Amino acid sequence: MRTYKLNNGLEMPRLGLGVWQSENGKETIDAIHWALEAGYRHVDTAKAYRNEEAVGEAIRTAGLPREEVWLTTKVWNDDIRAGRTTEALDNSLKRLKLDYVDQVLLHWPVEGRVAAWQELEKALEAGKVRSIGVSNFMDDHIEEIIEAGSVLPVVNQIEYHPYLTQADAISACDAHDIAITAWSPLMQGHFLKEPLFAEIGERYGKTAAQVVLRWCLQNDVIVIPKSVHRKRIIENGDLFDFELSEEDMVAIDELERGKRFGPDPRNFDF
Ligand SMILES: NC(=O)c1ccc[n+]([C@@H]2O[C@H](COP(=O)([O-])OP(=O)(O)OC[C@H]3O[C@@H](n4cnc5c(N)ncnc54)[C@H](OP(=O)(O)O)[C@@H]3O)[C@@H](O)[C@H]2O)c1
Repeated sequence: MRTYKLNNGLEMPRLGLGVWQSENGKETIDAIHWALEAGYRHVDTAKAYRNEEAVGEAIRTAGLPREEVWLTTKVWNDDIRAGRTTEALDNSLKRLKLDYVDQVLLHWPVEGRVAAWQELEKALEAGKVRSIGVSNFMDDHIEEIIEAGSVLPVVNQIEYHPYLTQADAISACDAHDIAITAWSPLMQGHFLKEPLFAEIGERYGKTAAQVVLRWCLQNDVIVIPKSVHRKRIIENGDLFDFELSEEDMVAIDELERGKRFGPDPRNFDF
């Protein structure tokens, strides 16, 4: 349950710490160390989060063998558009001060994505990265990459939570054994406004956040909740000692309303 076997055979931890909007310094370093102490073995960053230096430092100073911590970063849109994917990855590795990352994703499906994908395939061959994937790719973007590329994406990282389950993108991924990672699994904090999660949680002795994250896991979706608070990081990681009933899973499924908290991959301007 703790890892997901990707379509290239690698085992990716199903629980990761997201660090978008974590400051590039002590805040990120502490959050990652607390997460690793709490049993997380996966960190999700991106060039665009401007905190790769702190992420690398946290991983290098955590006291765990490098191979025990899964690290994902992403290639930003300007680099994809400019045909600079290889250079962007090399610069991420320099900021991280690491020899390799476990996963690199194309952050958004901007123009130039097919050529960028081919650059990622070369980075994979060169050993700079152990798996390559995409983020915010919709069904047609997925098909396009599969047609043009020679390596399947292992993951599509998309916005996913009880209000937004993205059936079309997910069925395109399922057809090719591409795993789903949920970004904003806690609805950027809006889960607190939905009483059902706490109601269900009470019956299991679990919090609303734990119910939402567990619902993602039981839908076979990898989660990367973000927090910079130790107590919440521990809470968000304590997901593996209970199971939601079919009835509770369905009650949460019924909340779906196509509601995004982040940008729409079919209509964005960055
Ligand atoms: N690929 C993409 O395009 C993309 C886009 C967005 C995000 N992401 C990735 O996905 C990760 C997660 O998404 P996200 O950061 O947007 O949102 P999220 O994880 O859904 O929610 C984070 C928010 O919830 C709060 N929070 C966390 N745990 C809580 C708890 N137990 N109780 C109450 N509040 C809690 C956090 O505040 P505190 O930090 O103050 O605790 C923060 O404000 C990101 O960090 C990033 O790594 C990727």
